[in-house]
Formats: sequence, structure tokens, C-alpha cells
Amino acid sequence: MSERVSFGSRMGAIFAAAGSAVGLGNVWRFPYEAGNHGGAAFILLYLGCVFIFGLPIMIAEFTIGRRSKACTGGAYEVLAPGTHWRWVGYLGVLTGFLILGYYSVVAGWTLEYIWQALTGGFVGKSSGDYVRMFQDFSQHPFRPLVWLFAILFVTHWVVVKGVKDGIEKASKIMMPLLFVLVVLLAVCSVALPGAEEGLKFLLYPDFAKVTPDVFLSAMGQAFFSLSLGMGCLSTYASYFGSKTRLGQTAMSVGLIDTFVAVLSGLIIFPAAFSVGIQPDAGPSLIFITLPNVFQQAFAGIPLLAYICSVAFYVLLALAAITSTISLHEVSTAFLHEKFHFTRSRAAVLVTSGCMLTGVVSSLALGEWSAFKICGMNMFDALDFLTAKIMLPVGGMFAAIFVGWIIDRKIVKGEVTNYGSLRSSYYPVYLFILRFIAPVGIIMIFMNELGLLG
Ligand code: PFF
Repeated sequence: MSERVSFGSRMGAIFAAAGSAVGLGNVWRFPYEAGNHGGAAFILLYLGCVFIFGLPIMIAEFTIGRRSKACTGGAYEVLAPGTHWRWVGYLGVLTGFLILGYYSVVAGWTLEYIWQALTGGFVGKSSGDYVRMFQDFSQHPFRPLVWLFAILFVTHWVVVKGVKDGIEKASKIMMPLLFVLVVLLAVCSVALPGAEEGLKFLLYPDFAKVTPDVFLSAMGQAFFSLSLGMGCLSTYASYFGSKTRLGQTAMSVGLIDTFVAVLSGLIIFPAAFSVGIQPDAGPSLIFITLPNVFQQAFAGIPLLAYICSVAFYVLLALAAITSTISLHEVSTAFLHEKFHFTRSRAAVLVTSGCMLTGVVSSLALGEWSAFKICGMNMFDALDFLTAKIMLPVGGMFAAIFVGWIIDRKIVKGEVTNYGSLRSSYYPVYLFILRFIAPVGIIMIFMNELGLLG
């Protein structure tokens, strides 16, 4: 049997996993979820979810991947052969495939906005113009599709290049660039006159806004942002070397992800408040509000407005692409390992499938918007189904699997690298996996359904 490929270094593994975690979830989804759900109150709940559920489940997914040395679609079968657990792996592959469909649509928008920023498309417009510009573009039957295909093409290309030369290399170049951009833009935004209101919004929690729905949103956001619940990180962990420290890697990924999410809030809210724009514009926040914000905030310095706009959308595109790569890899590795397609043939199948789901998601915002499922268009329905239901369910099963099903010696062995590390957090970790995470996730669901009174 040939040796399984692995990331070239421990840092490579961290960059790749952080590349998956940091994405549109941080820069696009987190600010509008926080904006819609009471700012700091949401952020506190979110942080709670990251540290209580997120990190232990991430280590559990790492354990599943590294121990099985198989992609998520095969890992459960390797660790619990002949049981129904394999369905959890398949559920992960399906979830990732569905997310990639609508995620690539938004990733495609970032390319259009880079283009607009570069060609001066934001200059000299009124607030209404930005709304119209976004609506005309996102509802157009054809234009978003061109960018969607471009994103899928780049993703496909990196995935076909493989784990070390494609995924690891791309992450090592894109992630540092993304950090520099996010810090620079946050500094610019916080320095604007009137930015304090935005900081207040981020820092003072308004608990009156915390409804059951907010709990579910915070949990869904934590899973989405950390790439948990669909075996994306367990697939990556199957490429980890034996020296990679699972706990330390999870902590690094969690901190990097949270750092970028909070900094994105620091880019968006101070700038939005500074020019008197409400933060609860929803998913269109960064596509309608921000171009306007940059133009108004730096009205006296057009060059700065130009640079910030281009830099912001480049940042967004980089973040998105490192995540689409990881989503794509889950399905590609599954087809490659389970059905023995070559990697490139597997990737062609995944890319073609995503073109279809992507086209459907994109048209759902325009031509097909009248078609609704439970009152939501197909784009919103996919987001709701995957982020708020499938990811927490997948994460809960991963926790139960590692906490209750697989041999305790393996669970401990993986976090201590089979005795070479002291992992003092192990008892707490195990307790969370066995009790807190499953019970907590079920309670949040019941709360949302109104079953907890
Ligand atoms: N974590 C990514 C983000 O925050 O944008 C999105 C994502 C990637 C979700 C991979 C799930 C996943 F498996």
C-alpha cells in the first residue's frame, strides 16, 4: 500500500486548517449575524460556543482523521467497521458538497467586487446606487455565474495539484497576506472619526436581544466558521504527520479564526457607524454597505478609498478560496478513496456537481426567487439547512463517536501523540465530548423549537 501523503510541516498543517476555517464565515457571515443579533451579546455567545463546543469537537475530528488516515467519508468505516457510523461520514461529504454550491456563489461575488473596485466602479455613487448595483449584479441570470465558474476553476486547479503542492502551498501564501490586510484595514477603520459607536456596538452586550434563535445562530456560526461538523478538518487531519500536536493545532486554528472574525467586525462596524449606516443590513452588508463606507469615510483621500476597497475584496477572495479548497477536498478525497477515481477525475466530478448546485443557488436570488422552501429561497434554505442543522448534527455525532465509541486508548493516544506529550486538558476534553457537547447541542435545538418552555 502506498504511503499516505501528508503536509510538509506542522506549520503547513496549521496554515491549511486555518485556511479552511478563516473564510467568508468570518468576514461576510460573522459581521451580519452579529449585526442582526445584538452585536456584543451575540459575540459572547459565539465565543462560548467556540471554546465549549468548537475546540473539543475540532480535536475529536482531528482524532478521527489522523487515526483512520482516511477522508471523512471513509474514516468512520475504518474506525468502526460494519456499523452505521459510516453514515455520519457520508453526511459530512453531502454537507460539504451542498455548502460549496452556495459558498462559491458568494466567493464569486468577491471577484466581481475586486473588478469593480479596480475599475473605479464605486466612485461617485449615492447610497441607493450601491443597493441597485448589488441587486442588479446578484440577480443577474448570467454575470454571477461567470465568477462562480472562475472560483470553481481556481479551486479545482489547487485541489488537483494535491495536498502538499496545492493546498499547503496556497494556504502558506494566502494566509499571511490575509492577516496583513485584515490588520491594516481594521486600523484604518478604527481611526475614522465617530468610530466609537461601532466599537461600542461590538463591545457592550445588549442581552435583551438574546432570544432562542440567537443561541442557534451563535452555535451555527461557530460550527460554520471553524469548519466543523462535516469532516473537513478530519479530512485535513488525515494528512497530519505523527508529530502534529492536535490540541495545539486546534487552539491555534480557533484563535486565528476568532481573531479574524473580531477584526472583521472592527473593520466593518466602526466604519459603518462612522458614516451613519445601520449594521443590520444582513447578508448584503459587505457588498452594499462597505463600498459606500469606504467612499464616504475616505472622501477626502480618493487614493485611500481606492486602495482600501481593492484590498478588502482581495482579502475576502483569498479567505474564500482557501475555504472552497477545503470543501472541495472533502468530496474529491471521498470519490478518490472510496471509488478509486484518480484525483483529477474525482475533482472533475465534484467541480461539475458544484457548478450545478452553484447555478441553482445563484439563480435562486434572481430568476428563481419565487421558488421557496419553508418561506426561504433555495440559497437561504441551503444556508439554513447546512449551517444551522447539518453542521451541529455532524459535530454532535463526531463528539459522541470519539467520546463513547472508539477505544479510550486511541482517544488519549491521539492527543498525547502516544505518550510523548503531556496533555493535561484531556479529562476536561473527554468530559465535554461525552456530556456537554451532545447535551448542549440537543438543548439548543430544543430551545429553538420552543420545547424547553
Ligand atoms: N469555515 C469557512 C468559513 O468560515 O468561511 C466555511 C467552511 C469551510 C465551512 C469548510 C465548513 C467547512 F467544512
